[in-house]
Amino acid sequence: MNPSSKRRLFVTTALPYANGPFHIGHIMEYIQADTWVRFQRMGGNEVHFVGADDAHGAPIMIAAEKAGKTPQQFVADIAAGRQQYLDGFHIRFDNWHNTDGAENHQLAQDVYRALRKSGLIAMRDIEQFYDPVKGMFLPDRYIKGQCPKCGAADQYGDACEVCGAVYAPTELKNPYSTLSGATPELRKSEHYFFQLSSDRCAAFLREWTQASNAHGQPHLQTEVLNKVREWFAVDENGHGGLADWDISRDAPYFGIEIPDAPGKYFYVWLDAPVGYLASLKNHFDKGQAAAHWHAASRTTQDFDTFMADPQVEQVHFIGKDIVYFHTLFWPAMLKFSGRKTPSQINVHGFVTVGGEKMSKSRGTGISPLKYLDLGLNPEWLRYYLAAKLGSKVEDVDFTPEDFVARVNSDLIGKYVNIASRAAKFINQQFDGRLGYFGATQEMTDAAQALADDVAAAFEAREYARAMREIMAAADRINTAFDAAQPWLLAKDDARRAELQDTCSRALAGFWTLSVLLAPVLPELSARVARELFGLERDFVWADAAVLPQRVAPYQHLMQRIDPKQLDRLFEPDVPSAPPQNGNARILPEAKPAAAKATAPGDTITIDDFAKVDLRIARIVHAEAVEGSTKLLRLTLDVGETDADGKPRTRNVFSGIQSAYKPEDLIGRLTVMVANLAPRKMKFGLSEGMVLAASGADEKAQPGLYLLDPHPGAQPGMRVR
Ligand code: 2FM
Ligand code: ZN
Repeated sequence: MNPSSKRRLFVTTALPYANGPFHIGHIMEYIQADTWVRFQRMGGNEVHFVGADDAHGAPIMIAAEKAGKTPQQFVADIAAGRQQYLDGFHIRFDNWHNTDGAENHQLAQDVYRALRKSGLIAMRDIEQFYDPVKGMFLPDRYIKGQCPKCGAADQYGDACEVCGAVYAPTELKNPYSTLSGATPELRKSEHYFFQLSSDRCAAFLREWTQASNAHGQPHLQTEVLNKVREWFAVDENGHGGLADWDISRDAPYFGIEIPDAPGKYFYVWLDAPVGYLASLKNHFDKGQAAAHWHAASRTTQDFDTFMADPQVEQVHFIGKDIVYFHTLFWPAMLKFSGRKTPSQINVHGFVTVGGEKMSKSRGTGISPLKYLDLGLNPEWLRYYLAAKLGSKVEDVDFTPEDFVARVNSDLIGKYVNIASRAAKFINQQFDGRLGYFGATQEMTDAAQALADDVAAAFEAREYARAMREIMAAADRINTAFDAAQPWLLAKDDARRAELQDTCSRALAGFWTLSVLLAPVLPELSARVARELFGLERDFVWADAAVLPQRVAPYQHLMQRIDPKQLDRLFEPDVPSAPPQNGNARILPEAKPAAAKATAPGDTITIDDFAKVDLRIARIVHAEAVEGSTKLLRLTLDVGETDADGKPRTRNVFSGIQSAYKPEDLIGRLTVMVANLAPRKMKFGLSEGMVLAASGADEKAQPGLYLLDPHPGAQPGMRVR
């Protein structure tokens, strides 16, 4: 690659909120980006690949308070758990920082000052609910009350989970703060707005969202652009179009102070993307002192010089849920603060498991850490995801059967096996020397053509197409090898040259495929390069059409998956003996346990008891379960939020149909076991268990009584 065509890339993935561990959705995004970055590096391009924790915002502030920590400590504790995931899945960021770092405070304030100078910041009074007990303005997600439409109790400030009505928090009847239980008051406060609705912003965004970058690639995928066009659209009544963006929050808030505005902080979404720049700056500032994995990405310049280079491309990988922020706010913030705008916003879909969407906060389905703990090979997952990822905003569905098939029949059966079969003959009969007889031009031309096609696919993030091309080539190599029947040639001294040629061509093919798979399988390809072919470095893209000359004795490269390993991945983690009937089972069905509990003598320690996380739960909704005479389906509010800080409820099946009508339960409080492993039942996933009292002998002492806390208890409170 000649130096003038060397690209300079700044690549990021979305910054995860620092309020929980990575789930499989994060890992997929990082693998997608890491694969692209590795591909770029193999072509000789300069890449700086950074991530960071998204530290700010009310949910993290509140979670820290609940945990009895400062927000800084809370965030640091989350950050401490990150590296094991990244190392585990061979995800190689050059730097991992957090948005509460000094660089981000400085950069976010700089960006803001520049926007203010451009005349794009406005101030306006807004009316908002205020919690007089907590002494803070309440984000909508912390306000509940009765639905203005159907009257259902305990509905969130935006929509009713019972009747589906959508409304503003101020419309709720009898609103209360979920933080303190207090009745919120409407109060006025001055907020700062970024004037996205201004003609300047709108004109810029219309142009930018449709434009292509210097490499001829559109800034946005087609389906993303279509979505953005809907956001631009104004109807005949003048509704719709871009609205100004409220970028301030009042103290107390964990965030960055707005310059010249005491008591005002940037809304977390303003400083979060600036965190991309902050992490890059932190990476540059560390300079040579930091031990980086990649010599090539070691910085020789400073952040400002790098960002001022018009050649530098800024590439963001994000999920489809945060498109608005990245395609409108972020480019406009950059543009009007006089900075480089993004070159590409690459949007991916969600990971689903067996077609079901996972909860963002808990990511039920596949736990990445469990995957690693079970000793499952991270490159199996990298390959599987690559085999399913395209450039469109489509969900990626994980099914265990498909996973086993792709890995065992494609990766092992087609690719890895070439090496084990062909290397054996070369080592046994030719002392490891490869020999090609007859013309090789056609073979190297074909290798080059394949490498070009696969390169185009990687570049366009069409990984599934790349994997298909690679596996089709593996098929061709295997077919040619089998057709030559090397096992017969090996028995005929007169045909030694033919044997050597057949095996050498198969191994040359294997070499090429290993180069092309390197972005996806970095560990395996490094071993192939070094251990099998004796190269003293990792593969680069230009190796693809090179003919190897020697091969070392074959060392085992990769295990097949035993489907049982995957079964374990999907088994719920049950700390003790799992209940027979799902975790909806309540005492009357638990005869042996109930009988035992009446016998004195069996004690547990306080530590044993502390393992059970009992919580106050509000029954938000209850309904009969079709096909079951025993169960009710309960929707419980246990005061939880997801990674976005949005409230989340739990689904629990409970065997109380004989004792309660669903409508009588709605709105009531009860007690649930909150840390019972989720259990898949015939009717769906049950995520806990509610507690009820009953006699040891149902016949002698019938009846079933849900526990009912005294008034004042709030969802989420711990029972101990
Ligand atoms: O949705 C999220 O998880 C956000 N924390 C993403 C932020 S991306 C960037 F702007 F920092
Ligand atoms: Zn309602």
